[in-house]
Amino acid sequence: MASERIYLSVPHMGGDELSLIHDAFSSNWLSTVGPHIDAFETEMSAAIGGTRHALAVSSGTAALHLILRAIGVERGDHVAVSTLTFAGSVFPILYQGAIPVLIDSESASGNIDPALVRQYLADAARRGALPKALIAVHLYGQHAEMDSIATACAEYGVPLVEDAAESLGATYKGRETGTTAPYALLSFNGNKIITTSGGGMVLVEDPVQLQRMKKWASQSREAAVEYLHVEPGYNYRMSNVLAGMGRGQLRVLRDRVNQRRAVFARYLTMLGDVPGLSFQSEASWGTHTRWLSVCYLDPMTTPVAPLDLIDALTAHNIEARPVWRPMHTQPLFHGAPVIGGDVAERLYRTGICLPSSSSLSSSDQDRVVSLILNTMADPAHRSR
Ligand SMILES: Cc1ncc(COP(=O)(O)O)c(C=O)c1O
Repeated sequence: MASERIYLSVPHMGGDELSLIHDAFSSNWLSTVGPHIDAFETEMSAAIGGTRHALAVSSGTAALHLILRAIGVERGDHVAVSTLTFAGSVFPILYQGAIPVLIDSESASGNIDPALVRQYLADAARRGALPKALIAVHLYGQHAEMDSIATACAEYGVPLVEDAAESLGATYKGRETGTTAPYALLSFNGNKIITTSGGGMVLVEDPVQLQRMKKWASQSREAAVEYLHVEPGYNYRMSNVLAGMGRGQLRVLRDRVNQRRAVFARYLTMLGDVPGLSFQSEASWGTHTRWLSVCYLDPMTTPVAPLDLIDALTAHNIEARPVWRPMHTQPLFHGAPVIGGDVAERLYRTGICLPSSSSLSSSDQDRVVSLILNTMADPAHRSR
């Protein structure tokens, strides 16, 4: 019998979700208004320290779109963003008709390089071409070095946005993710550390901004009995059913962080000494959630390339993925301004995301590890 498939990152329910969903059904709050939505927003805000207002929406991408519009990003503006990320960090820039400026990573965490940010902003200021916003993505569960980035942005008056889609549960110098810039977004997509099947959240410092975004997310209905509209809107609100699921998931967030960190720790123990294989380090400034466990293959030491290892794992019904393909190498963003790019390309060429689910059993992880050990010890093994 073929072995069961091991996925990269699967949903992991805590136990309360179904009764909260059931409550939405029994009370007939089944639309995009209802008590679970309000409670999910309040509880998330409290979970990250109570300094941010929260708006539950249909996806992380929708959250970022609302944020960029609230900042005032318009057609032809520049918006700077990490090049090493998922496309959802960049698409909303296009929705506003703006131009992404794709900034390279620092090599330790893969996050946006603060030195390059400063250099780029100084140069853009000289040219009179400052971006309308800068989006720092916290990659794979680890925070970017926000203080240096925030200082540079403040100096040049550039609004800073945290893309915390992958980092819920992480900390930066004792602060929770989503609270180190005036604007942040979360994702509850099915592959994330907690999920609402699909969903996202805006986190914002300014309650007035929150109210504007809330209106846009609800088809920009004016406060009038008749259907009155004076500006365009979107149908972006989260459903009360899914917000119930989110509340249940939030109750187990700390467990999920610990479980993902334990998965990473086992990989490190069992594979840390393999020549040519290294693991993404944890920066000194905070807690990495290890949303995904990422390792790198050194082409100078091993003939096994990431795609070989991914093929070997796929052949044994195990899902693994390359590190995000940098946005500046995507056909869609051909011609967009790029600042650096070599580091992100190297991380992409050498990196692999390993199965990282919080529910990954030790025996399944052993299967992954022994496949990797076999492939690394005998590169020809991959084609068998
Ligand atoms: C870094 C990053 N930003 C934005 C998004 C978009 O979130 P969503 O899928 O909820 O739209 C994702 C992932 O899905 C992501 O990984």
